[in-house]
Formats: sequence, C-alpha cells, structure tokens
Amino acid sequence: MTNTPKYQVGMVGCGRQGTQHARGFTLLPDTQVVALADPDPDNLQLGMRRFSARGYSTAEEMYANEKLDIVDCVLPVQFNPDMVVLAAEQSGAKGIVSEKPLAASLRDADRMVEACRSRGIPWQGGNVDRSLSQLWEARQMIEAGEIGEVLSINLYEPTMQGGCQGLSVAHMFAQDAEVDWVTGWTNGDPFGEGDDDYLGIGGYMRYANGIECFIQAKSSAMTGLIVTGTQGVYVTDKRRHRFYHKPESSDVDLLCGLQHNDSKVFKGFRGHAVDGYDEDGWLYPGDRLMDSMQSIVDAITHGIEPKTPGYVQHRSFEATVAMRESARQGNTPVSLPLEDRSLTLMPQKFRWMNKKGLLGEEEYARQIGRATKD
Ligand SMILES: NC(=O)c1ccc[n+]([C@@H]2O[C@H](COP(=O)([O-])OP(=O)(O)OC[C@H]3O[C@@H](n4cnc5c(N)ncnc54)[C@H](O)[C@@H]3O)[C@@H](O)[C@H]2O)c1
Repeated sequence: MTNTPKYQVGMVGCGRQGTQHARGFTLLPDTQVVALADPDPDNLQLGMRRFSARGYSTAEEMYANEKLDIVDCVLPVQFNPDMVVLAAEQSGAKGIVSEKPLAASLRDADRMVEACRSRGIPWQGGNVDRSLSQLWEARQMIEAGEIGEVLSINLYEPTMQGGCQGLSVAHMFAQDAEVDWVTGWTNGDPFGEGDDDYLGIGGYMRYANGIECFIQAKSSAMTGLIVTGTQGVYVTDKRRHRFYHKPESSDVDLLCGLQHNDSKVFKGFRGHAVDGYDEDGWLYPGDRLMDSMQSIVDAITHGIEPKTPGYVQHRSFEATVAMRESARQGNTPVSLPLEDRSLTLMPQKFRWMNKKGLLGEEEYARQIGRATKD
C-alpha cells in the first residue's frame, strides 16, 4: 500500500470480463475499485460483494454520486460507444479504459476518439497484447537499432475483431505511423451479413513512413509477428521472442548463420490461471490484463499515452474495414481515411450482446462464478 491515496476506479459493466478488470485494479498497488454500475441486479450484487464496492444500476447515477479517477467500461460492443462517450462527458475521470472491439461502425469509433481526445483524457483500448511490457522492451531495442532499419512486418494472424490484437501490435513496430493505403482479401464472403469477425481478413498495409505489413488471412502453424530490418529480424508469438542478426560474412549459410540470443525470451509470462486460485481465492487475470490496467495508471500519473490508446485501436479498426472494402472491390488498393464513415464490421454475437442472454442463466452463473473459489 502506498502513502498517496489510490486512484478511485468505477466499473461500468461487471460481467465476466468486468470482474477480471476489477480484480486487476484490486491487485495493482495504486488503484481501488470503489463503485460499479450495471443494470443486471445479479451481476451488480455479486460485484459489490466481491469488491466491497458501492453499486448503481446506471453509469449516470454512479457519475452523479462518485468522484472517480478512472472509469472502466467493460461492455458488450453494442453499448460501448455510447458509454465511452458518456464517461468522457460526465464522469470527470482522469482516464478511461474500455474493452475491444471498440465499435461496429466507423462513425461510432470516430465519436469515441473525439470525445476522449477533445478533453485530453487518456483512453486505454482494451486488455490486449499490445500492452504487454515485453513487447515495449522489444520496441525500444528496435528503435535503438537492434535490427537496423525496419522495412517490413509479417503478421501471422487473421485480422479479426477489427484488428485490435495483431494489427495494433504491427503498428507499434511500424513506429505507430498512419496507414496510407491497403489491399485486402477475406477468408470468406466479404459481403456476408453479421459476424464479420469470422471472415478472417488478410492483406497488405502500407504505412506513411514506407514500412510494409503483410497480413495472413488464415491461421497457420506460425503465429505472431516477424519484423524484418536491414540488419536483423525480430520474431515473436507475443508470448516469447527472439532477435536474429544477419551473419557477418556472406559465406555463412543464412539460416545456420542467423544468430539468436535467448536472453531476450519473455521472462515469466503468465497467462490466465486455469488450474489454481491464489491465496485470496481468485484466478489470476493474466499478465496482459495487468499490463493493460497498469498502462492507464502510468498514463494519468506520468502524463504519457497508454500502451494501447483508443485511437490506435481506431486505426486498426479502420484498416480492417478498408481491407474488407478492398476485397469487396476485387482487391483494389483502398486509401485511408475511408470516406464512408457509415461502414460497419460486425463483431461476433457473443461480443455484441450480453452473454447471459446467449448462454442462459445457469451456464452464465457458472462462468462468472469461476473467477473466485466461493
Ligand atoms: N480482451 C479480452 O481478452 C476480452 C475477453 C473477454 C471479453 N472481452 C470483451 O469484454 C466485453 C464484455 O464481455 P463480458 O464477457 O464481460 O460480457 P458479459 O455479458 O459477461 O458482461 C457484460 C456486462 O455489461 C452489463 N451492461 C450492459 N449494458 C450496460 C450498461 N449500459 N451500463 C452498465 N452495464 C451494462 C451487463 O449487464 C453485463 O453485466 C466484450 O466487449 C468482449 O468483447 C474482452
């Protein structure tokens, strides 16, 4: 416990993933979950008991009664845009967190970015791989010249959920440059209605700084990213990573000659605990989630950007929609920003809607119950 007061966190949505976020904030030394807003009385009561927090049936009520430093919206995607905008407008919070995907339409994603940017509120866009601190260490090394000049990125991950995982990591190794144009293809009907998430979108992204990104549309034996530079290569599956360097002599066989340094493997990566509960009776929410929550704390404490700002998630979403548009137009190049802001890319049903309605009360109670032993 620190001597300075902890940042007061208010959760909007305390379903399955909201519970994980709230546990993450409880584990961090500088944050404390003080209030929850959720219209589902069962989820609200359970959350209030688990986190000894005050409860409200609406976010508006919570904002009217609480002085919050951080608002964390963990909601089905259909509610996400309105609630992130409301948090920016009404909560008075210093920082906002939300889950991914951001939205189903470009217009909604636009107004989320605008609501936070116009008020200077840092916004962490989800519990996502891009927030993993080891990836940032790798980025720092690459910026310091570890593999020479970065030329291209290969992403071995179909672009799903608006690119909020893989594309956002690709951007960080492309120096977070804007995306100039894309071509794309899909692993399914690009005109299909709904559940576009299942499409598997692949393509080519050209950044404004000339870096190229090639995205595989199908799952394969390879997963993660390869960043290729003039002097070396960085390979990561987003859980482990290695740097390889070009052999000094051109006489050495390239594959045998590529050097790797195992000291650069991620240390102690911990994903979701599936087998065991900690001494407080909680499943560990995962390193990725912990780094994502820490990121908003760092942002408001030090006046820096969160690791995965909402506007980067927006960039990924727009690039994904653009690749799908390219596929619809016979794989022709598509420039960004897209003119038609009414374009949509629907997430999977289970991300769009409240899960209780999809899973049924009994199965939902089992799933939300798993977070703790009791
Ligand atoms: N990053 C990840 O790894 C990850 C993992 C799981 C889920 N998610 C995302 O988290 C989000 C939520 O998923 P979940 O599994 O917790 O869903 P869930 O259905 O379990 O929980 C959603 C909660 O939001 C509440 N809610 C709905 N409308 C509300 C409103 N207007 N105000 C306040 N609360 C409201 C519901 O009552 C429910 O308690 C989804 O967007 C999903 O894509 C991300």
